[in-house]
Amino acid sequence: MPKQTIANIPVAGKRVFVRVDFNVPLKDGHITDDRRIRAAIPTIKSVIDRGGRAILASHLGRPEGTGYESEHSLKPVADRLSELLGKPVLFPSQDCTDEQTRAAIDAMTDGQVLLLENLRFHKGEKKGDETFAKRLASYADIYVNDAFGTCHRTDASMYAVPLEMAGKPRVTGFLVEKEIKYLSETLANPTKPFCVVLGGAKVSDKLPAIEHLLPKADHIVIGGAMAYTFLKALGHKVGESRVEDDQINNAKRILELAAESKTDLHLPQDHVCSTAFSESAGDLKEVEDAIPAGYMGLDIGPKTRLQFAQVIKSSKTIVWNGPMGVFEWRPFRIGTKIIAEAIADATAAGATSIVGGGDSAAAAETFGVADRLSHVSTGGGASLEMLEGKPFKAVDLLDNA
Ligand code: 3PG
Repeated sequence: MPKQTIANIPVAGKRVFVRVDFNVPLKDGHITDDRRIRAAIPTIKSVIDRGGRAILASHLGRPEGTGYESEHSLKPVADRLSELLGKPVLFPSQDCTDEQTRAAIDAMTDGQVLLLENLRFHKGEKKGDETFAKRLASYADIYVNDAFGTCHRTDASMYAVPLEMAGKPRVTGFLVEKEIKYLSETLANPTKPFCVVLGGAKVSDKLPAIEHLLPKADHIVIGGAMAYTFLKALGHKVGESRVEDDQINNAKRILELAAESKTDLHLPQDHVCSTAFSESAGDLKEVEDAIPAGYMGLDIGPKTRLQFAQVIKSSKTIVWNGPMGVFEWRPFRIGTKIIAEAIADATAAGATSIVGGGDSAAAAETFGVADRLSHVSTGGGASLEMLEGKPFKAVDLLDNA
């Protein structure tokens, strides 16, 4: 059921509680990737440009829940957001429930933006505590969920707060609307041929997503370390490559399912190998088929790159989750780069491309193709759960369109 969005709600003079996901990476107090902050701007602007008062709430990291911790403060986020919006962002207190915060909210004027301090400084946020939720709910007239990266959680601000605000508008922001459109609606009815590209370390992480997407997919392309569990299941020699032995039977089951549903499952036929799991220490070698003892596969090889890229370019809907190799290390980055570029080329030729968050989103940024893809998710766990077809309680309770 499509959800009501903030675009259709009059906000002038109203206090609008916007749950965002500003859980961004920080190094020495500096934000190293501000994509999640930039992704929330359209919703924030829609509120303030129409005369609403935006009260933003987020978590950052996983603090203890026993009060303020400077390393988990949202202050650097408030500063970055202020730069991006070109206006001040009120950041009233170290405790999102205290009287100072309440007074700052009461004093807000139309068009102002206020950011609450990290919700997880209170245990009540993770616990979904009612008293905590009541306090946050009392701040606003309208509830907006624009925190896609947290939509798989039922933290208080995601679930108990909108429950408390029953009777008031409870809607999605533009980011959540866009994420659902691509990760759920497009994939429910993909234009064919539909290609699912999966990589990363563990089969076990991707198993539910494979099972959910396989019946609709024309192609499943598998790279990354997870491919070696499949290759071992097929009886190939994989040397010292990372294998999840307890997933061999699951890999066999997936191979059978693919055969039954006439889905082409593509595995690497050659590999960039090394004798050490290291950027620079090992002896490097390109290997076809059987990987010799002492070597491990750390990227897909040249023939595989070509074959995977051809499959991708012949597809009309592509979803990508997980790198093809250890792309953070120079000798093992080419496979992921070629795949990222093939997806961008397919998009330019009219395909719809969807990239799950986390490592694949980082790879798309690293290889400069993020802007050439239809959608790059801001969710890590959330995007994977959506690819698994799981329902999200935090979204389900919002008003229907
Ligand atoms: C994320 O980065 O995946 C979200 O912000 C959720 O964070 P969490 O896994 O700590 O709940």
